[in-house]
Amino acid sequence: MNNANIDKAAAAKGIDLSVNIAGVTLKNPITTASGTFSPHESSEFYDLSELGAMITKGVASTPWDGNPVPRIAETYGGMINAVGLQNPGVDYYIENELPFARKFDTKIIANVAGHSLQEYCDVVERLNETDVDMLEVNISCPNVKEGGIGFGTNPDMAATVTREVKKLTNKPIIIKLTPNVTDITSIAKAVEAEGAAAVSLINTLLGMKIDVHRKRQ
Ligand SMILES: Cc1cc2nc3c(=O)[nH]c(=O)nc-3n(C[C@H](O)[C@H](O)[C@H](O)COP(=O)(O)O)c2cc1C
Repeated sequence: MNNANIDKAAAAKGIDLSVNIAGVTLKNPITTASGTFSPHESSEFYDLSELGAMITKGVASTPWDGNPVPRIAETYGGMINAVGLQNPGVDYYIENELPFARKFDTKIIANVAGHSLQEYCDVVERLNETDVDMLEVNISCPNVKEGGIGFGTNPDMAATVTREVKKLTNKPIIIKLTPNVTDITSIAKAVEAEGAAAVSLINTLLGMKIDVHRKRQ
């Protein structure tokens, strides 16, 4: 049974699968994880209208090339990635990706990337002009040299990003946090105090693949 059918079957039984996050109602709680999903590619496999929301790939103020290859490594239990937030920039996103995503009957949560406070603000300012439903600010990517996780491991810097982007939009702000800290609660509380509507848990865990026989990576 697909999600749409699940929604209908649940409704027929009087069960409401909808969830409300910061005033935005999702018809069900199924969303995509940013960067693991592309509206164009994924729509070839299932009807994206079945989703409660789609969270799109991180978008920056200018196009980013990401890290040099190889940036994906298979492991026994999964895979390790260091893509480095490759993306075509917010102008391309608004002109090309958003119109396609809007064809589907689902909420859109735009994921925001930046190397600096100014870059986060520039993206939020541009996205505020669009009809995306919510913004998810990624202050937790371990795979970019500057910005990203640097903001998400320090409560004061996390608070500053939240405060500054909040000034630029009335859209609900989700702050995406990293698990690669000693105490995630202090950072969650710092962003909550500055008006984050929700926190997104969690971004990528740091990992290393070691060949125990050769004692090497
Ligand atoms: C290939 C890849 C690309 C990702 N790109 C982004 C991204 O652009 N923005 C972001 O906030 N998270 C990104 N993530 C993190 C995921 O959204 C998710 O938070 C992470 O994989 C942890 O979930 P998991 O433990 O279920 O994998 C990416 C993850 C992967 C594997």
